[in-house]
Amino acid sequence: MTPVVCATVEEVRRAVAGARAKGLRVGLVPTMGALHEGHASLIRAARCEMGFVVLWLFVNPTQFGPKEDFTRYPRPFERDLEVCRTEGIDLIFAPQRETVYPEAFSSWVQVEGMQDVLEGASRPGHFRGVCTVVLKMFNMVGPDVAYFGQKDAQQVIVLKRMVRDLNVPVDLRVCPTVREPDGLALSSRNVYLDPEQRRHAVALFEALGAAREQVFRGERNTGLVQRSLAERIRATPGAVLDYAAVVDAESLRPVEPLHGKVLLALAVRFGATRLIDNLVLEITDEGAAEASL
Ligand code: PAF
Repeated sequence: MTPVVCATVEEVRRAVAGARAKGLRVGLVPTMGALHEGHASLIRAARCEMGFVVLWLFVNPTQFGPKEDFTRYPRPFERDLEVCRTEGIDLIFAPQRETVYPEAFSSWVQVEGMQDVLEGASRPGHFRGVCTVVLKMFNMVGPDVAYFGQKDAQQVIVLKRMVRDLNVPVDLRVCPTVREPDGLALSSRNVYLDPEQRRHAVALFEALGAAREQVFRGERNTGLVQRSLAERIRATPGAVLDYAAVVDAESLRPVEPLHGKVLLALAVRFGATRLIDNLVLEITDEGAAEASL
């Protein structure tokens, strides 16, 4: 079935009210388009649990830095529409920029502290843009549940804190990272990689896997695990390490020695393309296991 495409808040609210009147629960899949199998997995999770599924499609300018790829970010609308049709989206909400950011827009959401580390340190203002647009989309659509991928782990952690702190009545569901057969995490930015970079990009997955094995074997020294992550990336042709971090998965604060739920996160540049990936581990006195956010 072809989804309805809306651009105004009135249209989306009317459709959501209609679904609710039929007793349906409403799921929201937030995206910037350029849909791939990772997004499709979020849609499928929403489709399983919800009676009415809305896809948010908006390349949000406020989460891109001045030197980032906002203008060249892929916008393959017809292909996105086809994915939505195949996966059974009920409604695509693709607002115009002025609908989201009217003239003299001046209200911003900030999650202090957490927004300035890891991705936030490399991309100042990124999470202010993400939190603001996500709170706005929740207010515009009014979903019961919103679906995010663990690939953007810090985004999920920061948004969970925002939802808790501001009593936002939306449940966040976190779905596993979807990977290429060699382990590279799917990302709309993978299309920027040339064949040589694409071959070496698997280093993120391999470095995280090696660090996981170290922890499984009993290593609890955070600095050591962090350093071995960094060394593996530095040894990869064409890769420039942005950060390798091992932090508490709820607060994003340093953790030493390793215990509890821990996030292992990497950001790596291949030329102008910046890739991120992560792994979550649950570490107890009994041992360590892979976990989710
Ligand atoms: O994860 C994304 O695609 C974006 O950060 C989001 C959540 C759609 C906000 O623009």
